[in-house]
Amino acid sequence: MTDLVKIGNTDVVSKKLGLGTNKVGGHNIFTGLKDEDGYAVVKESIESGITTLDTAYMYGLGRSEEIIGDVIQDYDRSKLVIATKAAQDSSNNKVDNSPEFLKKSVDEALKRLKTDYIDIFYIHFPDEKTPKDQAVRALNELKKSGKIRAIGVSNFSLDQIKEANKDGLVDIVEDNYSLLHRDAEKELFPYLKENKISFVPYFPLASGLLTGKYRFSDSDKFSQYSREKFGDIITSLEIVEKIADRYEATVAQVILAWYMQNPNISIVIPGARKPEQVDQNVKSLDIKLSDKDYRTIDEAFMDVE
Ligand SMILES: NC(=O)c1ccc[n+]([C@@H]2O[C@H](COP(=O)([O-])OP(=O)(O)OC[C@H]3O[C@@H](n4cnc5c(N)ncnc54)[C@H](OP(=O)(O)O)[C@@H]3O)[C@@H](O)[C@H]2O)c1
Repeated sequence: MTDLVKIGNTDVVSKKLGLGTNKVGGHNIFTGLKDEDGYAVVKESIESGITTLDTAYMYGLGRSEEIIGDVIQDYDRSKLVIATKAAQDSSNNKVDNSPEFLKKSVDEALKRLKTDYIDIFYIHFPDEKTPKDQAVRALNELKKSGKIRAIGVSNFSLDQIKEANKDGLVDIVEDNYSLLHRDAEKELFPYLKENKISFVPYFPLASGLLTGKYRFSDSDKFSQYSREKFGDIITSLEIVEKIADRYEATVAQVILAWYMQNPNISIVIPGARKPEQVDQNVKSLDIKLSDKDYRTIDEAFMDVE
């Protein structure tokens, strides 16, 4: 497995494992979060060599970026890959992709992150009115001026991605993808491959379900699945558990390794609530699945989504 990936048509290079930070400062999304845990998670990540951090204005309305900004002051900025996103205007609760709003958002994110460039900037959500190529051209101006290094879009439909990429300027796409949510495989992955656009899946651990820490008796915690379907997921996870035992690894580690061996995926960004989870997840970098085990996991989840 190649350890490093290059992002789109840029010189941004990252390890295949990063850190998702919506539980770092994301008080508006999750309850019971403590800032001190957020600081510890980011610090633990960087200390253990996971130097690509995925954040967004929406995670705590800037709080996640502020925490990251504080922590990174103690580290060599050139070794870090900071990805952030914006599109929501919290003054009116609307999504805005206009060039003016995106430029303002980047300037504000730079201040919170206490840095003078952002390695990857994503338009977090599409709005209804801005032509997507126009929004991306505005980001390209920021790229030329050195404020951002790579242009990304997130939560765009395939048609919106195509419109955004009319001038071939999109470097990276972030979207919902996991072994339990495989829609991207049909049309999105072939388009991205053909256009040399990198892909980052969010919810890679299906918000914790794919760590293997839940049992059938937890089905009521996952109301989005019928009991029958939840049972199928647990059965598939038992297959992964047997494979994990042979690698002396956890289910989460094996699943993260599977993504890192998937040629459609650039960087995997599991989220963490506690530094111990970062410690666990970083060990996935040491796992190299055999082709047979890779295929067995692929097939185990083929009909489960
Ligand atoms: N672009 C977008 O619109 C978008 C949307 C969503 C997310 N994202 C990004 O994608 C990242 C990943 O998504 P996510 O964090 O929501 O979900 P995820 O990576 O699928 O799941 C992460 C959660 O699983 C649990 N977990 C992680 N490692 C574990 C371990 N070793 N053992 C046990 N439990 C573990 C933790 O939650 P508990 O401890 O609470 O169980 C953790 O917060 C986010 O952090 C964010 O940066 C982007």
